[in-house]
Amino acid sequence: MMLSIENLRVSFAREHGDPVEVVHGINVTLDKGETLGIVGESGSGKSVLSLATMGLLPRTATASGKILLDGEDILSMSERQLCRVRGRKIGMIFQEPMTALNPSMRVGAQIAEGLRLSQGLSRRAARAEALRLLDMVKIPRAADRIDSFPHEMSGGQRQRVGIAIALALKPELLIADEPTTALDVTVQAEVLDILDELVSELGISLILISHDLGVIARITDRTLVMYRGDEMEQGETEQVLRRPAHAYTRKLISALPNRVRSALETPDG
Ligand SMILES: Nc1ncnc2c1ncn2[C@@H]1O[C@H](COP(=O)(O)OP(=O)(O)O)[C@@H](O)[C@H]1O
Ligand SMILES: [Mg+2]
Repeated sequence: MMLSIENLRVSFAREHGDPVEVVHGINVTLDKGETLGIVGESGSGKSVLSLATMGLLPRTATASGKILLDGEDILSMSERQLCRVRGRKIGMIFQEPMTALNPSMRVGAQIAEGLRLSQGLSRRAARAEALRLLDMVKIPRAADRIDSFPHEMSGGQRQRVGIAIALALKPELLIADEPTTALDVTVQAEVLDILDELVSELGISLILISHDLGVIARITDRTLVMYRGDEMEQGETEQVLRRPAHAYTRKLISALPNRVRSALETPDG
C-alpha cells in the first residue's frame, strides 16, 4: 500500500457567495506499515482531509489535486470503485464509536455481518472470527461479551469493538479521526495502546488524527501539523515535537500539560 496526496485542495459551496476553500494544497505520502499523525486545533481541516482520503466528502465539497492509493486516484473514482476501496483497502475509526455501531444489534453479530459480506464466510465461521477479533482488541471474557449490545459496554469497550469492525475487513490503511477524544483519559491510553499494537503487528498503515500532541507522540512515526487548512510543518514525529520548526507547533506544545510535555522532552519518553 502506498498513499500519496498531492496538492489537495477542498472547498465547500455556499448558498450565497463564492465557495470557501478549507484545505489549501496539502501533500502527504505514506508507505506500508507507516504511521502518520495529523495535528492541529479544531477547524484545521484534519477531518476534511481524512474524509477526502476515504472518498467520503459531502456533495457540497469540491476537491482538486490527487489522492493516489496504489497509484489510483480516489478523487476520480466512481462510487462503486470507492465502495470496493473502503471494503478492502481503507478502514476508518470514528471519534464516537456509537456512530459506527448499530445500537440494536449485538456486537458479535455486527462484526460477523461485515465478515459475511466482505469475505463470504459462513455464519459459524464469521462468529468464530468475530470472537477472535474481540479477543484481539482485548475485550475481557470475549466469549461472554460477544452477545452484548453496544449500550451494555463501556465507552472504551465500544471503541475497541469499533477497531475490531475496522480490522475485520483487513484494511491496508486505517484512518482514525480523534478515536479516543470521547473517552476518559485513563481509557484513552488503553485504547491507543491496543491500536498501536495491532497496526504494527498486522503491518497496517495508520493515519491518526488528533488535536492532542501527547497522543500523536505516543504512536506515530511522522507528523503533519495543520493550521486553517495549511501545512505548518511535517516530519519525523520526534523532530517535530522536540525541535518544532514552526511557531504554531511550539504554541501547541506549550499548551500541553507539564507531565506530557516533559515526557516529550526526555529521550525515551
Ligand atoms: N460539510 C461542511 N460544509 C461546510 N464547511 C465545512 C464542512 N465540513 C467542514 N467544514 C469547514 O472546513 C473547515 C475544516 O473543518 P474540519 O476538517 O472538520 O476541521 P478539524 O477536523 O481539523 O477540526 C472548518 O472551517 C469547517 O467549518
Ligand atoms: Mg475533526
